[in-house]
Amino acid sequence: MERTLAILKPDCVNKNLIGKVVDKIVDSGFKIVGIKMLRLSQESAKGFYVVHRDRPFYDDLVNFMTSGFCVPIALEKENAVADFRKLIGATDPVEAEEGTIRKLFASSKQENIVHGSDSAENALIEINHFFSRDELLG
Ligand code: CMP
Repeated sequence: MERTLAILKPDCVNKNLIGKVVDKIVDSGFKIVGIKMLRLSQESAKGFYVVHRDRPFYDDLVNFMTSGFCVPIALEKENAVADFRKLIGATDPVEAEEGTIRKLFASSKQENIVHGSDSAENALIEINHFFSRDELLG
């Protein structure tokens, strides 16, 4: 069984959409194996997004991700990484398919409600960024 990491971003929390987004995730067949709500430190956000450090949007992204509370969620499902990325839709909500979480709820490329891991290998690294072993099912 594959795992992936979702993060409900500060815009999701501020718009009070945690319940609606979690409902869509669970209705799509994902099992929640870890969940918490926290505010990322600058150091933690910079580390999480280190692959984007040379991109022009990096500082804004770190500032946004530390602007409020996030809800990291470790998820399990067959083909979890690809299926979750399909469920959330393209980074830019304008390009996201109808019915996807970002099409429904996101307002911009930055404030796009939810993060999803881009590979099974990165998913495990990202899950370990937020969760210790005793905070995960199984
Ligand atoms: P996420 O899945 O969390 O991974 C990297 C994030 O960078 C991405 O979602 C977007 O929120 C953000 N991002 C990617 N491209 C851009 C962009 N062109 N402008 C602003 N933010 C971006």
